[in-house]
Amino acid sequence: MPTLSNPTAPAPNPLSYSRADWQRGYQSQPQESAYEITEMEGTLPPDLRGTLFRNGPGLMDIHGQRLHHPFDGDGLICQIAIADGKAHFRNRYVRTEGYEAEQKAGRILYRGVFGTQKPGGWLANFMDLRFKNIANTNVIYWGGKLLALWEAAEPHALDPVTLETLGLDRLGDVLRPGEAFSAHPRIDPGSATTGGEPRLVNFGVKAGLSSAITLYELDTAGRLVQRQTRSIPGFAFLHDFALTPNYAIFFQNPVRLNPIPFALGLRGAGQSLEFQPDRPTQALIVPRDPALPMQTIDLPACFIFHHANAFEHTGPQGQPCITVDSICYDFFPTVEPGVDFLDINFDDYPAGKLWRCQLDLARGTAERTCLADRPCEFPTQNPATVGQPTRYYYLGTAHDPTVNAPLQAVMKMDLQTQTLKTWSFAPQGFMGEPVFVPHPQATAEDEGWVLILTYRADRHASTLVILDAQTLEPVTQLHLRYHIPYGLHGTFVPEVLGL
Ligand code: FE2
Repeated sequence: MPTLSNPTAPAPNPLSYSRADWQRGYQSQPQESAYEITEMEGTLPPDLRGTLFRNGPGLMDIHGQRLHHPFDGDGLICQIAIADGKAHFRNRYVRTEGYEAEQKAGRILYRGVFGTQKPGGWLANFMDLRFKNIANTNVIYWGGKLLALWEAAEPHALDPVTLETLGLDRLGDVLRPGEAFSAHPRIDPGSATTGGEPRLVNFGVKAGLSSAITLYELDTAGRLVQRQTRSIPGFAFLHDFALTPNYAIFFQNPVRLNPIPFALGLRGAGQSLEFQPDRPTQALIVPRDPALPMQTIDLPACFIFHHANAFEHTGPQGQPCITVDSICYDFFPTVEPGVDFLDINFDDYPAGKLWRCQLDLARGTAERTCLADRPCEFPTQNPATVGQPTRYYYLGTAHDPTVNAPLQAVMKMDLQTQTLKTWSFAPQGFMGEPVFVPHPQATAEDEGWVLILTYRADRHASTLVILDAQTLEPVTQLHLRYHIPYGLHGTFVPEVLGL
């Protein structure tokens, strides 16, 4: 199998893409604008109404000074409002304190968690332990607020129509100054625990030699219903969690933080995480009822950013079990200092794959099976089945199932029939997280659409693709005027905002 070490290799390229095409999708996008999308293939489904919000790093440099890793880039929010056959696009940067300061100064003023250093070598970074809240990971609309999220700090509130930054938002008095509100909230669609009402559940981590997880539950008006804090031993790197009616489940990755190279200014905090393959990954099973004890179950070492879903059930002897589906890596995929992320050799990085972990709460054991033996990330599902057994997942995957490579195809998994469908944007299309939008009168779990913001290297611009979720074939393509760098997470809401 050829490596990606020669990005300028002439055609024919045995891979499904060219590295130069993939790299162009990472170019900074300083433009901000608002316009009606007029370049459209197909027609918009009349029943598709609402607004897609996306977040992700939009700048890979500060006035020419390059960032070490895209995860260190300032949050760029995209809003695509759809109604009555029309669509309107708007994008705007989150005016964080750090964004404003760096744009004014015209240079990098902050170190990034994933390895960006201030110019001037290690001395310029020595003992600078500040973090820049870059608000670049997710955007949610809850309780009438549009919130840009970054996992290590407070959310930023935005005007949901204009995307103007309103400032740091502590959700009323829910968060204390500096308290984190992760970028991966889950929405309980309504269970016995919530009296049938939807509820936003999220967490914040205070990491250290021992760590603390605080779990927040907010009602549909954004009011705090419950808050609880659990102490866990050791350093915790928790990006995501899974939710069932009775439990919040965290998988603690076997990593330790070596603070010395970070403090000395030699590495970013994220690069100072050391994966420990001889230690187990630990499932932390936190009852949503604060009066009940937490349980810990060990499983073989792996690294997890994202979970797909979880559900409660009984085992063969009637014992309580929880099944958790997650994207697992063999080890922590970090970009070392001195390596340009645009030149990484994908063969050197582990491929994320979808695994199922069955946790037996009575025996305290875990059993794992691989559900999809191909590189994939960004699992999503019908939001109505969160915390329940779901039949379908939608994920981003590599075009070639045997090669670790950029995400170029969307994959629909049918867990009941054990079958896969894919739709690929290769060779010149690349994608991120798919978002499932249910049909308003849906009678089947997969009745609806899958929305994907893709990057098209042939146009050097992005296209929102709307696929029929049942057939996984595109029904509409909305071509944007310019590209949006590869993003992270977002949300679709039925409210039409910005049109
Ligand atoms: Fe994430």
